[in-house]
Amino acid sequence: MAQEFDDSFKELEQSVMEDMRKVYSEKTIDHFLNPRNLAGIAAPDGFARIAGPCGDTMEIHLKVKDGQVLNASFWTDGCGPSIASGSMVTELAKGKSLSEAQKITQQDVLYALGGLPEESLHCALLAANTLKEAIKDYLVFKREPWKRAYKSGQDFK
Ligand code: FES
Repeated sequence: MAQEFDDSFKELEQSVMEDMRKVYSEKTIDHFLNPRNLAGIAAPDGFARIAGPCGDTMEIHLKVKDGQVLNASFWTDGCGPSIASGSMVTELAKGKSLSEAQKITQQDVLYALGGLPEESLHCALLAANTLKEAIKDYLVFKREPWKRAYKSGQDFK
């Protein structure tokens, strides 16, 4: 009985993977099933939370030192492609200078993932835009650190 269950579970798993492969690249599937940088970063230097046109949300946390992205993490309540895009954009950003990271585009994320279907292109845009906002957040608070306390107060309202 247990063996039958194991066999049918494996068959189901294989069929799900075959269906995914018809739509997504191996890279996208890998980043969706094994997302990198999915945990938040304590006391981030830069943070952004953006909702895409589909209503899904992405967050990016950054650690920055000497103008370089030391660490980046993401979180999303979105679809599989948004998980893959958040995973990839944080991988692309880590180790880059802020000016290099600021230039990461939707196309860069799509290229690194091996493409996404037409209906998921906006998921890569959401990831690239959230990264840009997190960098902007870092730059604003670097110049005017007093604003961060004000912003925290706003979040609790
Ligand atoms: Fe909303 Fe992918 S981010 S559908």
